[in-house]
Amino acid sequence: MALSPAPAGYPASLEDVPRAVHDALRAFLDTQAPLMAEIGDPVDEVVTHLRTFVLGGGKRIRPVYGWAGFVGAGGLDRAEEDPASVLRALSSLEFVQACALIHDDIIDASDTRRGNPTVHRAFEAAHRDSQFGGDAASYGRNVAILAGDLALVWADDMWRSSGVRHEALSRADGAWRGLRSEVIGGQILDIALEAAGEEEIERADKVNRYKTAAYTIERPLHLGAALAGAGEETIRAFRAYGRDIGIAFQLRDDILGVFGDSAVTGKPAGDDLREGKRTVLLNLALSELDASNPPAAAELRDGVGAADDVAHIARLADIIAASGAVEGVEKRIAALSKSGLAHLEAAGIDDEVKETLRHLAVSSTERRA
Ligand code: IPE
Ligand code: IPE
Ligand code: MG
Ligand code: MG
Repeated sequence: MALSPAPAGYPASLEDVPRAVHDALRAFLDTQAPLMAEIGDPVDEVVTHLRTFVLGGGKRIRPVYGWAGFVGAGGLDRAEEDPASVLRALSSLEFVQACALIHDDIIDASDTRRGNPTVHRAFEAAHRDSQFGGDAASYGRNVAILAGDLALVWADDMWRSSGVRHEALSRADGAWRGLRSEVIGGQILDIALEAAGEEEIERADKVNRYKTAAYTIERPLHLGAALAGAGEETIRAFRAYGRDIGIAFQLRDDILGVFGDSAVTGKPAGDDLREGKRTVLLNLALSELDASNPPAAAELRDGVGAADDVAHIARLADIIAASGAVEGVEKRIAALSKSGLAHLEAAGIDDEVKETLRHLAVSSTERRA
């Protein structure tokens, strides 16, 4: 990709983006700290925890796609926006991500994230250590809700104070609004399907589109391209690619969520089965087994959302593995990767940009973490 005109000090390749994002986040956090320090303890502690969470890990995939969208749409060549400002604006996506993850872990009752206790669990433990009165679990949850809120507010603060000129921010406004609302809509749909025990695969696809694809790939690319002043055709192609690759990203997450190595993913395996998440993987397994092995289908149906010990969850994972559903999901990932790239082909996107997005599609969908 045409990253060569990148001025010194800015990412010369996509591999350098996570480091640059980390630096931008740290600088922003330094400017926010005094605001909350004035309130004093124990708010400081929550702010420090959020800082550690945001700086402590994550693949930074959303800013990476945002930067790919900006560069791929000719933002560096056009040289209208200061690249450092654009990088700051796109780094704010990591605060949206922090909010999404902190709240998601409450919703999914998950104990670990990025290899550490989830925020609600950490503050549940802090409540116990401090010998506070009342219920430790609800204290932990309440602090995490507020820490997530703070992250979302700071995303907006960082976006707006990035230094990107007003015209460019206005061009990207639709994408920015869409990104933050769609992920919430997707999460609502996700928990509703779980509560309803929904088995339709199309409904699970829709969840993946909104809870993940939109805020992870489609909108970040859209944001970057809009900041660069891209034309409609480029934006349409980037978004269509992002939808398909983003859904495939979540399908991979669903496989990792059952069969992944928690030492690598940093989050527990089996949470989806314990919670009764209506993933494409689960629904495919149920429909395959209804035809091929009804007793196994019944065992899986009864166990999902009810199993809470390791042996039972492992048994459900074995039933899924034997159903052929993993192969079915792999086929879907391959088909989405192909159709995602075909959107770029059809729109006549520059070869170098296509190559970069092909490379990113592979790392997003074949990941182990
Ligand atoms: C996790 O996102 C949530 C999903 C949308 C599947 P990531 O896999 O991008 O998580 P981090 O930011 O790298 O921790
Ligand atoms: C991913 O949710 C979407 C968001 C976090 C908004 P999941 O519940 O599927 O993701 P993990 O597996 O916990 O990261
Ligand atoms: Mg979830
Ligand atoms: Mg989750």
